[in-house]
Amino acid sequence: MKILAIESTCDETAAAVVEGDSGGVRVISSTVASSADIHTKYGGVVPEVAAREQIKAIIPVVNEAILGIDIDSIEAIAVSYGPGLIGSLLIGIETARTLAYVWSKPLIKVNHLSAHIAANWILDESHVSTPAMPAVGLIISGGHTDLVVMKDASSMEWVGGTMDDAAGEAFDKVARVLGLPYPGGPSIQKAAEDSLEQVKVPKLPRPMIHENNLKMSFSGLKAAVAKLANEELGDDQIIALAKEFNLAVMETLVKKTSIAIEKYQPRSLLIAGGVAANKIIRQGLQEMAMSKGVDIYMPEIKYCGDNAAMVGAAAVLFRDKVSIDYLRPEPGLGVY
Ligand code: KG4
Ligand code: ZN
Repeated sequence: MKILAIESTCDETAAAVVEGDSGGVRVISSTVASSADIHTKYGGVVPEVAAREQIKAIIPVVNEAILGIDIDSIEAIAVSYGPGLIGSLLIGIETARTLAYVWSKPLIKVNHLSAHIAANWILDESHVSTPAMPAVGLIISGGHTDLVVMKDASSMEWVGGTMDDAAGEAFDKVARVLGLPYPGGPSIQKAAEDSLEQVKVPKLPRPMIHENNLKMSFSGLKAAVAKLANEELGDDQIIALAKEFNLAVMETLVKKTSIAIEKYQPRSLLIAGGVAANKIIRQGLQEMAMSKGVDIYMPEIKYCGDNAAMVGAAAVLFRDKVSIDYLRPEPGLGVY
């Protein structure tokens, strides 16, 4: 089944054509346009600006994704219906609805978070198998930090996560107080790589790490960095503090995910979301999963951040579980 998928929840405008079934998804085309560079000068996403950029990008991005593809071979249009920024979401949703109408194709609504998880079903040269169930999933994005349990490939139950800020939001805010550019994740990762061993900074808290539960918190950690950033810090110290912050987030995620693994005894661990691109976090989770004998799945970096291939993958995987309404939005669901 070939699907044209559209993603526009935040500051990325993306379209992709994918093909597959529960045995795995292949990406035929995937285009992502980002307005992140524009938001850099404001230090974070400005929703109104993001929505305007969505309008500019959506048609060229869809056109690029369907280039050379026979429209008759597309079975359905899939779109992220939320969670996300309302102005941005509407652009992708209305485009998908219009295409579904003019091409007479069904419209599949996809939850953006389940799409992040579904990125683990995308096959390529380095991803040749799909996750065995049951699985524990860790979604780490700009707006969410959630632990989910999947008993099978089409069900997802929330079992834990952050009580306050998302890990990605903490990366973005910490970067801002340290004077590093938006988006914070990549700039903190870069700083962590450049950090010199001999530069010492105070150890940051690992929030809730000693509590034997699946609750996380990142706002205190963020505040701890902000407090230190008020002092006169040299460039070397800023970079060292960025690394210490990255390590604190990694250790927290590793510990809480390991508790979930002990509790639910999954066969696979699935990592997803923009923060899953982080090298230190990937390595920490990989080592923990190995020590517990669980197979770990992490999408290729380009499928960690927002993209439409993952939306197509979710449509393929969860098709029976999401409502396929033909231009008939359900009240109370997503943005409508
Ligand atoms: O999944 P995503 O692209 O969008 C949402 O659904 O929120 O996640 C965006 C988040 C941002 O907070 C960004 O700073 C973070 O992912 N991020 C990273 C890295 N790349 C992006 N965080 C840590 N390390 C990275 N390399
Ligand atoms: Zn996302």
